[in-house]
Amino acid sequence: MPATSTRLHGFTESVIRGMTRLANQHGAINLSQGFPDFDPPEELLAALEKAARGPAHQYAVTWGAPGFRVALADKIRRFSGVEVDPDAHLVVTCGSTEAMMVAMMTACDPGDRVIVFSPFYENYAADAILSGARPVYVPLHPPDFAFDRDELRAAFADGVKAIVVCNPSNPTGKVFTRDELEFILRLAEEHDAYVITDEPYEHIVYEPHGHVYASALPGAEQRVVVCNSLSKTYSITGWRLGYVQASPEFIAQARKVHDFLTVGAAAPLQEAAIAGLKLPDEYYSGLRDLYARKRELFLGCLRRTGLSFTEPQGAYYVMVDISPLGFANDTAAAEWMVREIGVAGVPGSSFFRESEQRYIRFHFAKREETLLAAGEKLERLARG
Ligand SMILES: Cc1ncc(COP(=O)(O)O)c(C=O)c1O
Repeated sequence: MPATSTRLHGFTESVIRGMTRLANQHGAINLSQGFPDFDPPEELLAALEKAARGPAHQYAVTWGAPGFRVALADKIRRFSGVEVDPDAHLVVTCGSTEAMMVAMMTACDPGDRVIVFSPFYENYAADAILSGARPVYVPLHPPDFAFDRDELRAAFADGVKAIVVCNPSNPTGKVFTRDELEFILRLAEEHDAYVITDEPYEHIVYEPHGHVYASALPGAEQRVVVCNSLSKTYSITGWRLGYVQASPEFIAQARKVHDFLTVGAAAPLQEAAIAGLKLPDEYYSGLRDLYARKRELFLGCLRRTGLSFTEPQGAYYVMVDISPLGFANDTAAAEWMVREIGVAGVPGSSFFRESEQRYIRFHFAKREETLLAAGEKLERLARG
């Protein structure tokens, strides 16, 4: 057989999605891949039924159906204060996953360097490599997963085309402060690099923290490229709706990448999702409160295991230190947990560039009864 592309030798299949398959195989409670086991808002379900009987069954405009882009621009303006022209600043994509691929392919030439904080959401390294770029890693230091400003400055000094900022962060739950984002933006300005943000958890941030939109900071206009998604905000990870938001010049190029990658996001789902984008502010505060309750409940379960963890400031993941369990590595621990405890998490090493075997990542985007059932099983860890 002819050789396949050497680009693909630089990364493995998704460990997260692999853990989901293992969980299904063993009937374990799946706290690995981050998706809810509860329904989207009723308004979206009703709009979906209506869309099924409507006309939107053929290709939409490749960079997004006009009605969807208008509603999206209004919603972005409402929360970030950034003026978004639906015809100039947006490309609608198949989730934030495609948005990130589009952003990287638009920004990077082969051989360019892209800074990725480690630990990182596993797509970023693969996206950089697939776009011909080379990821360079800057550590986020536990327990609060802060970055060291000198280390970041040094990474920029070697020449960089872009930096990826996941805010709020998966897997660490870190929420970047205004000061941190301004610092990153200043370095990007100095070195003429893009700041590519990934913000699907913008509405899942726990008090006293607040989400700061990098796109709203002074100097962001030509430099910040936002990748975002409706997946988590409206509990519709299967609808595959996301977007890139950037300057008109960047978007003009990004549209081409998107067009040849996927043509477009599903037309009837764009139509139906408008109902979500128009939900009132109370929906978003309700979402935040809902996840704050889930967080308290699940962290309470974790405390009963006696294992230590970093409390997430945002998103719905928690990194649990499993080193006291005495496994040779985190993969062995995670597989044992699926088989013997009945709860699936993700081996933390899949998020780290460094050799780090200390963590398993769980998520808590589940109904209360699912979290309580998982908690009961996890309590066996305390009993040894
Ligand atoms: C940080 C981050 N970015 C992107 C995604 C993928 O989002 P989407 O469903 O919009 O492709 C996820 C999903 O878990 C995520 O955690």
